[in-house]
Amino acid sequence: MRFFQWCRGRKANAQELFKPFPQFETKKLFLREINLSDAKDIFKFLSDDEVTKNTDLKTHSTIRDSEKFVKYLKKGCEKEKSIWWGITTKDRNVIIGIVGFTNWIKNQFRAETGAVLSKEYWNQGIMTEAKVPIISFGFNGMKLNRIEVTFMLHNISTMESLKKLGFQEEGILRECRFFKGQFHDVKIVSLLKKDFLLLSSASNAFQKRS
Ligand SMILES: CC(C)(COP(=O)(O)OP(=O)(O)OC[C@H]1O[C@@H](n2cnc3c(N)ncnc32)[C@H](O)[C@@H]1OP(=O)(O)O)[C@@H](O)C(=O)NCCC(=O)NCCS
Repeated sequence: MRFFQWCRGRKANAQELFKPFPQFETKKLFLREINLSDAKDIFKFLSDDEVTKNTDLKTHSTIRDSEKFVKYLKKGCEKEKSIWWGITTKDRNVIIGIVGFTNWIKNQFRAETGAVLSKEYWNQGIMTEAKVPIISFGFNGMKLNRIEVTFMLHNISTMESLKKLGFQEEGILRECRFFKGQFHDVKIVSLLKKDFLLLSSASNAFQKRS
């Protein structure tokens, strides 16, 4: 509730929006700014081929790769093209995954969201939980009208998690992405602000009644 009040009336001006860096708290998680000192923790999961294989991220070989990655994320934020949060559990200030927006096209009110989580935390509802405040921030803070995600056809976890958040399937983009030396067909799903508002009001009504 406090978050919605904070967002109301603000323009999608990243200078204001990203400074101070917006931080969120969910039932089980904190979402916070990623710093260079987090590189060693990010390395733990981005050095795992199984984590990176369905993404365009290269598997990190050294902590230096992870440091460069953190710098790249920070630069995207400075250039107002993207914003990424580090996900931590509440008991340890250690980043176990990242979630954020990329390809923010301001004049089209559109951005893509992406996510990567350390394997030991998969299928515990963590990314679905982490995306709730991020999506709210996208629509209310960044003033997005459409949030989209493209992902590999066999990435069932991503599909299931996004379905729970109200994303709708739009189709398959044939050989739309090129990474790891190959063209890949990807599924495209999206969530529109009007659908999100409808879902939010339905969920509020349900909570009031129960
Ligand atoms: C994709 C990813 C971020 C999902 O994070 P997560 O925290 O595991 O996701 P969640 O647990 O919130 O949701 C996944 C859902 O898929 C379901 N699922 C997973 N595998 C499934 C399968 N084979 N069949 C049916 N459902 C499946 C899970 O049960 C869960 O649903 P539930 O909460 O109803 O049980 C994580 O798997 C990851 O980091 N993967 C590698 C990187 C990646 O692919 N990123 C996305 C690129 S677009």
